[in-house]
Amino acid sequence: MSENNPEVAAPYGSGASKAAPVKRVRTHHLREMKARGERITMLTAYDMYTAATFDEAGIDMLLIGDSASNNVLGNETSLPITVDELIPLTRAVAGSAKRAMVVADLPFGSYQASPEQGYLTAVRFMKEAGAHCVKLEGGAEMAPVIAKLTQGGIPVVAHIGFTPQSEHALGGYRVQGRGETAARLRRDALAIQEAGAFAVVMEMVPADVAGEITRELTIPTIGIGAGNQCDGQVLVWQDAFGLRTGKMARFVKQYADVHGALLEGAKAYADDVRSGSFPGPEHSF
Ligand code: KIV
Repeated sequence: MSENNPEVAAPYGSGASKAAPVKRVRTHHLREMKARGERITMLTAYDMYTAATFDEAGIDMLLIGDSASNNVLGNETSLPITVDELIPLTRAVAGSAKRAMVVADLPFGSYQASPEQGYLTAVRFMKEAGAHCVKLEGGAEMAPVIAKLTQGGIPVVAHIGFTPQSEHALGGYRVQGRGETAARLRRDALAIQEAGAFAVVMEMVPADVAGEITRELTIPTIGIGAGNQCDGQVLVWQDAFGLRTGKMARFVKQYADVHGALLEGAKAYADDVRSGSFPGPEHSF
């Protein structure tokens, strides 16, 4: 191993641990995974502990989604969240993830005006928050923005199909790419690949359409509600691990009951405080 070759030698962002080198997931690893038919794993993360936990679990990509708007900040949709609100969350994730690729979502209104606006916003996420790449929503119409970012050294994940930032234009949460619109989705996918995106998220797309696009593209596809023929999958962690309760989208599978665990813990704590059994002598000075 050469100390001077960062790709080989540098273990983590800090380069601190020489004992247990872990290679950072990079764009070429994802391309190679697609070529080998190895599925890519992606989850959202918005803070240091979930990021560290998902990283430890071997999740390949951590997305600081603009879904933080409705999953962390209490808004109804992803539209209100700002760049200034997302940057500290991104910094927390980037500071904790030793192996995973950290993907910063560009929020609504921060890149649609022009390629220059998109570039300046993306630079903030890379410089101020330590993101490794950015994600933005849109198809062929976003090709100039994607080209500007990639030419400026910023890797881009595109996001097509149902794009939550356009929920009002799309008439709500609806499957995209059914019937005749499948051809447009395919053109969008090819246009963003041509513009330089290194991966594409496909949301709420019929499984067969997502499968055809996956086979046609050379870049990896990451599905959410797009069936099991994509090269990878992404879910919002509060949905996947049951912190959020209530009605879930059909594409969500729940793997844990974090809400139940927190509820039990909080009730037990309250009981102990009310009964005077906490703090005990072992917690006192
Ligand atoms: O913001 C987000 O969490 C996303 C995922 C749903 C892909 O864009």
